Amino acid sequence: MQGTVTAPTAPLPQVRGLPVVGLLPAFRRDPLGTLTEIVRRYGPLVWARFGRVEFLLVHEPEYIEEVLVRQHRRFRKGPGFEAMRAALGDGLLTSEGEFWLRQRRLAQPAFHRAQVAAYGETMVAYARRHVEAWQDGETRDLAAEMMRLTLAIAAKTLFNVDIEAEAGRIGRALDVAMAAFVARTRSLLPLPDSLPTPTNLRFRRALADLDAVVYGIIAQRRASAEDPGDLLSMLMQARDEEGRGMTDRQLRDETLTLLLAGHETTAVALTWTWYLLAQHPEVLRRLRAELEEVLGDRDPGAEDLPRLPYTQAIVREGLRLYPPAWVLSRQAVEPFELGPHRFPAGTPVLISQWVVHRDPRWYEEPEAFRPERWLGDEARRLPAFAYFPFGGGPRRCIGEGFALQEAALVLAVMARRFDVELLPGARVEPEPQVTLRLRHGLPVRLRRRQG
Ligand code: HEM
Repeated sequence: MQGTVTAPTAPLPQVRGLPVVGLLPAFRRDPLGTLTEIVRRYGPLVWARFGRVEFLLVHEPEYIEEVLVRQHRRFRKGPGFEAMRAALGDGLLTSEGEFWLRQRRLAQPAFHRAQVAAYGETMVAYARRHVEAWQDGETRDLAAEMMRLTLAIAAKTLFNVDIEAEAGRIGRALDVAMAAFVARTRSLLPLPDSLPTPTNLRFRRALADLDAVVYGIIAQRRASAEDPGDLLSMLMQARDEEGRGMTDRQLRDETLTLLLAGHETTAVALTWTWYLLAQHPEVLRRLRAELEEVLGDRDPGAEDLPRLPYTQAIVREGLRLYPPAWVLSRQAVEPFELGPHRFPAGTPVLISQWVVHRDPRWYEEPEAFRPERWLGDEARRLPAFAYFPFGGGPRRCIGEGFALQEAALVLAVMARRFDVELLPGARVEPEPQVTLRLRHGLPVRLRRRQG
């Protein structure tokens, strides 16, 4: 990595890497390490060139707040979202402006506190059913297990469909689609979608599979004329000023977005949290002690969570060390300012939760798994954007309450019934794609607990 300090408008470091490709090869090999190293070496506000694009890396909490909250009107979603739009269309995650705002308002009631609490029963029932199928002593890939479980929970709570039978097919299609758009965002010269390259062909087949599932859900609901009062009904009943409802294509974009955003991140969070727990028996013991003290021998419901602070602290700490959304991107649509620095319209911005969540300026022993840091003064001293697993500002995750509740409930249901042992020699590595997946999954041996 070569660093030079030249900038015409502001004295910020510029990290250029190799000629032509810039930092792209390093970033492709090790995105987390590359970003961390640049920020630690050159500071929290720095230019870095990946291929043809020079990004502004922003890792100062105060400035992150400027981008996501105070000056949010000056930004749209960043370059990576273009590739995602190819799969998700104009759903909540990828749309912009008035259209996005209208859709967000339509979806919001499904995520109000009382509504999310009402999903608690389904979350626990599905977790119990899933875990009861496990046998003492067997090995399983916990990453795949968590994906199947959270997909089933999202489909049932938001769309009232039982999808577990199709979870394998959906999972495989999502894997292909995500790998394809990650390949596109990280390539030097992305080829147009229309070219029949092997990646594009795989991508199209995967999309056709996902479409079949999602259009199937929509058609079934239209045919049944039922109104279970779920998110899908809300979206279908919505009318614009001219009295028009959403087209099937719009419904498809929202449904697919919510199925995807609503399960993959939470599954990744649960998997990493179990990875951490498997190495910290003292934390697991304290978790079980809290569950036993508060619940006796029953599973929790959403209403119990306020009395389970340690359980919630484990979820928070897991999200700190392994934030499923590990990077955010934005593109300025007007000039903006960060402290004394001015930047032109068009500036692409990258902000990484992974980097900030492990910054020793904010966290004592930043690499250590210490849930109790969330129970005392250390958490109260944190600046606002030193911890932001769900982003911030108007584009903040709509499913935050849903995800935190689901993760805590599933964790509790599992911890009461099973011990999770990492298989000796298992390779555990982050694979930062769209979310922070595990490159080789998480192969574990499951031990049923007595009593
Ligand atoms: C641990 C789990 C989760 C994490 C870490 C997470 C993280 C995030 C982040 C960081 C964003 C903002 C992206 C940006 O600003 O560019 C976001 C947006 C979003 N998330 Fe989540 N999410 C999680 C769970 C969920 C769940 C359970 C749902 C739905 C059931 C969901 C639905 C969405 C949607 C629809 C958006 C776009 C919101 C908008 O722009 O209006 N997420 N999520």
